[in-house]
Amino acid sequence: MDSLAQMDALVKEWMHAARTEIIQGFKQKIAVWTKSGRNDLVTNMDRAVEAYYVEKIHTFFPEAVVIGEECHHQQDKYQTSGWVWVIDPIDGTMNFVKQQDHFASMIGVYHNGVGVRGYIFDVMNDDLFWGGPEKGVFCNETSLQPPLDTGLRDGLIGIGMPYLVHNYRNLQQVALASSGVRIYGSAGIQIIHVLQGKCTAYVSYLRPWDFAAGKILAEALNLQVKTIDGCTLDMLSSSDVLVATKNAQKDIQSLVAPAR
Ligand code: IPD
Ligand code: CA
Ligand code: CA
Ligand code: CA
Repeated sequence: MDSLAQMDALVKEWMHAARTEIIQGFKQKIAVWTKSGRNDLVTNMDRAVEAYYVEKIHTFFPEAVVIGEECHHQQDKYQTSGWVWVIDPIDGTMNFVKQQDHFASMIGVYHNGVGVRGYIFDVMNDDLFWGGPEKGVFCNETSLQPPLDTGLRDGLIGIGMPYLVHNYRNLQQVALASSGVRIYGSAGIQIIHVLQGKCTAYVSYLRPWDFAAGKILAEALNLQVKTIDGCTLDMLSSSDVLVATKNAQKDIQSLVAPAR
């Protein structure tokens, strides 16, 4: 087995173990705290899953730097050189709390700033999307083909709720030019829909752990993952991120208003 295949086997094992803990955890009371405001939650499960992944990564990959959403106060330690693992233990914490559904667990692995492996686990559907540049993308053991290069008019688009409500950069016009808008409350779940061709684009303000895994998987399927203005993403910074087919990216950029 080569070393990436070993990494795949380990990460899949950890993510399935985390899934078991999460589902067991629903039988107990979930402890919830607010962070920056009432819509920004963290639970005992976000913390436990992140701590579990960090402990496993440090055990099996001692040279790795780990960036996790719930320990992001260590920002001074962020770097792109060497092996960097970016973790979002539960993406869609609000859905986790309110719905016990529609959330993901995500890990992105980079080497010297280049994406090597992305893993997005749709926990309640038990669907693990994983892969990388030389491997392609799989849903569990089924290989995914690149989605059709559908334009904006013929596809659904995911838009971060505040962007749509405030018509940020003219995104209401983008929404009206599409076949319809879908808002699921989890960047991971929304990106999975673009991978599968169920949506033609997703645009939202995202932090590094929201897009780290999805960027690797989407690019492995010939999708575009850039800022809303078509610039390269900085993997350590938060940005207005657009994940889209090439045609939808072109259509969206022709409608987006210039940044003020
Ligand atoms: C959030 C979700 C949400 C997106 C937010 C993210 P979290 O992640 O992905 O869909 O709109 O920007 O912060 O905080 O639940 O991991
Ligand atoms: Ca969060
Ligand atoms: Ca999270
Ligand atoms: Ca997230």
